[in-house]
Amino acid sequence: MNVAIIGTGYVGLTTGVCLSWLGHKVTCLDTDAGKIEMLQDGRAPIYEPFLVELMAEARPNLRFSTSYAEAIPGADVIFIAVGTPPSPQGPPDLRYLCSAAKAIGEHFDSGYAVVVNKSTVPIGSGNWVGSLVREAYENAHHRKASDNFSVASNPEFLREGTALHDTLYPDRVVIGSDTNRSLEILYTLYRPILDQDFAPPTFLPRPEDVAAVPLVSADLASAELIKYAANAFLALKISYINEIGHLAEKVGADIAQVARGMGLDARIGTRFLQAGIGWGGSCFGKDTLALVSTAAEYAVEMPIVEAARVVNKRQRDRVVEKLLSELKILKGRTIGLLGLAFKPNTDDLREAPALDIAHNLVQRGCRVKVHDPVALDRFRRENTDLDVVCCADPGDVAEDADALVLVTEWQEYREIDWAAMAGRMRSRILFDGRNVLDRTKLEQLGYRYLALGA
Ligand code: UDX
Repeated sequence: MNVAIIGTGYVGLTTGVCLSWLGHKVTCLDTDAGKIEMLQDGRAPIYEPFLVELMAEARPNLRFSTSYAEAIPGADVIFIAVGTPPSPQGPPDLRYLCSAAKAIGEHFDSGYAVVVNKSTVPIGSGNWVGSLVREAYENAHHRKASDNFSVASNPEFLREGTALHDTLYPDRVVIGSDTNRSLEILYTLYRPILDQDFAPPTFLPRPEDVAAVPLVSADLASAELIKYAANAFLALKISYINEIGHLAEKVGADIAQVARGMGLDARIGTRFLQAGIGWGGSCFGKDTLALVSTAAEYAVEMPIVEAARVVNKRQRDRVVEKLLSELKILKGRTIGLLGLAFKPNTDDLREAPALDIAHNLVQRGCRVKVHDPVALDRFRRENTDLDVVCCADPGDVAEDADALVLVTEWQEYREIDWAAMAGRMRSRILFDGRNVLDRTKLEQLGYRYLALGA
């Protein structure tokens, strides 16, 4: 099939690379000429494991462009995967979605296309996008658009860091549509993934337990709500374990043991019960906020989702409170942060806990040193206002530090020589923000071990 994808962020680019690798003819479009130039050069503007490798294999079926006139005519499926960043008031900013929809209508020539919302959009946006596309088409071509387009919602569940794996081997594919025709087209598009009949890339083997992938076909509004409901549920699962973790600290329990004991109940499940500093990233914060604000438009309160947000924010503050109670005075202390990205295997800093923690520490007069194996350059570019010392080596973060905080659980930190780190620190205080380090071993090395939930 001929596919156009508008937006080359994590979602758009991953989708484009995977669909072209599976044999579809894909044009990825972005209005940012710098990004397109990089991609044409075989480089990726984001860090995502195996993306460059899969892109190279898919290259014969994949092209990159800044031109709607090149991407849109002849497309059977047009994905809109542009950013919908949160606005300060809560609802997402739909400016990019709106201009993409209009440009699609203007440049579509003839035939039939399904316009697919892949960006997380407010519930009800499917119909709105449809009307924008049709109106732009009619204005540009002076003829009715009723038989040329349908609109579908195809929410994305990929996690950064494992985006390609999640796209090729998803738990389910959700398609929301009010017409059979668009459902059939998307079914054909996703067939290799649904049937799992492709030979996997050597570097992304198919997990043993993945056979056929279930297709959930729903109406537009339901598909849109599925995305929010799933993300909010995962977010509140994490906040729930963090709330229990707070109590665990007080009663002398260990949250890791509690989470395991809970999670082995198949009704609960062990995943997303990792206690610690809490969630960051582009989705959970934005989607929980958007859910609450959509509900408010209908005079519906969402106290559970709101509480998940409050608990998550509190985790970041608690790191600083615990350091304060340990060090007594924070002013003039040197605190090292290991990890800036909101999670390992990505360079994404959106809503990263490290940023809030660093700001808070700097405000309290600390000297803050930071390191990240991948996100350091992005951090330097995007946080020029934050007065911290960037270290190219984690050992330099430890130099003269009064405390270290493990903020992002990169593999590199799990394997670090903690004895050597201890030798460079002023005082051996280690805050394991993700509950992933070996407490006993660290205590044997003379560390004062701190964590959230234990
Ligand atoms: C998430 C959803 O998982 C994905 O389905 C959706 O499409 C986009 O949002 P992502 O933000 O990439 O994906 O990362 P995810 O792995 O879900 O982690 C989100 C945050 O939660 C990270 O900051 C992570 O550190 C934190 N987390 C995750 C925990 O604190 N504990 C856990 O048990 C799991």
